[in-house]
Amino acid sequence: MHSKAIVNASNLTYELANIRLLFKDIAVAINEGQRIGLVGCNASGKSTLLKLLAQELTPKTGSIITTGSIYYLPQVSTLNLSASNDSVLDWLSSISDEWWTVTNLLKDKFETELCLSASIGSLSGGELTKLWLAIALSKQPDILLLDEPTNHLDLIALEQLQKVLQVFPGAIVIVSHKPFFLDQVVDTIWELTPKALLVYGGNYSFYRSQKESEYQTALRAHEVARKKLKHAQTSVAQEQKRAAQSQRNGRLHASSIPKIVAGAMKRKAEVTAGIAKQKHEAAVESATQKVASTKIKTTKAASIQLQERSQKQKNLIDIQGADLKLGYRTASPKENRLLIKNIQLHVSSGDRIAVAGANGSGKSCLAKAILGMKQSPAILKSGEIA
Ligand SMILES: Nc1ncnc2c1ncn2[C@@H]1O[C@H](COP(=O)(O)OP(=O)(O)OP(=O)(O)O)[C@@H](O)[C@H]1O
Ligand SMILES: [Mg+2]
Repeated sequence: MHSKAIVNASNLTYELANIRLLFKDIAVAINEGQRIGLVGCNASGKSTLLKLLAQELTPKTGSIITTGSIYYLPQVSTLNLSASNDSVLDWLSSISDEWWTVTNLLKDKFETELCLSASIGSLSGGELTKLWLAIALSKQPDILLLDEPTNHLDLIALEQLQKVLQVFPGAIVIVSHKPFFLDQVVDTIWELTPKALLVYGGNYSFYRSQKESEYQTALRAHEVARKKLKHAQTSVAQEQKRAAQSQRNGRLHASSIPKIVAGAMKRKAEVTAGIAKQKHEAAVESATQKVASTKIKTTKAASIQLQERSQKQKNLIDIQGADLKLGYRTASPKENRLLIKNIQLHVSSGDRIAVAGANGSGKSCLAKAILGMKQSPAILKSGEIA
């Protein structure tokens, strides 16, 4: 059990440039050592919420009371470091007083050594993430706020991060779109929706099962409401039929009874029919509202539609026995690193290919070299390239 709350935020409201409300009156608490997975759709405001907790942004209303030290690791893809020419060492020294502690942690926890004279802008997404994580660990914070640290990490690095987080003594709030990873490291899920922040005790799988049972309950409530509406509509139809029949009967019998009695009977029948009509219409109205309110608002999972063409297979890329070399622009042979040797790659139209490999192995460099990009840090040499 987690004991003491080290962050208490209440009534948090955040608006984008006074035009779009991201969230309203959110309350959150982080307890000592708690492991929280923050999930929600793209653009729901997860990064914004982390920035608020890190006090990098100010909410429109509400307060955040913190009793522990916080370290916030931003979403690496949103950092604009690629244009920077600062060396890793300069950049590191500007962030941390003890750069050697950081490089030691990088080596111990992630088996990664960086060239300190390389420019920070040349680091791969995975290298940069590991560097940030090592900086975070060197600060020994009470609370670690991690925004999508799993995005660029390969499988080995993900396992290393999992181990790091499992033994980390402080509290963690982590945004990640990788369910299997969250399952291993969190004990609470915060789901950020446009209406509220929902808290679920347990890991990601437990959260999914809770969501599924909530969905099934909502589905049943909607089905019951629809049945009630149908029943109310049938009652209205029957009542109309009955009233019409009663009117016809009244006309038939009117000639055999005194006019004054027939008039009274007619008025009474009309009043009774009016009351019944009102009652049934009210029932239909209320059942219609119930159907609308129980309607399940599901968000469609984003899907990538790849255009299928009924075209003949066309050869697009053919690389036979080429090597991918880094740093060809520099004179130093030391920096002229061989990234991938003897590449055999054939791509035809309609192929779906996943490029997998360890961080820093050259996946992005390969793509840039194939495209022949001007700024490509590597090129394909020798072999046959078409
Ligand atoms: N400085 C800003 N100026 C204008 N709009 C912004 C700013 N920062 C964020 N937004 C907008 O706020 C919304 C929420 O952004 P945020 O980055 O918090 O979402 P997120 O849940 O982290 O999304 P993702 O899963 O894609 O990382 C987005 O629509 C984003 O475009
Ligand atoms: Mg984000």
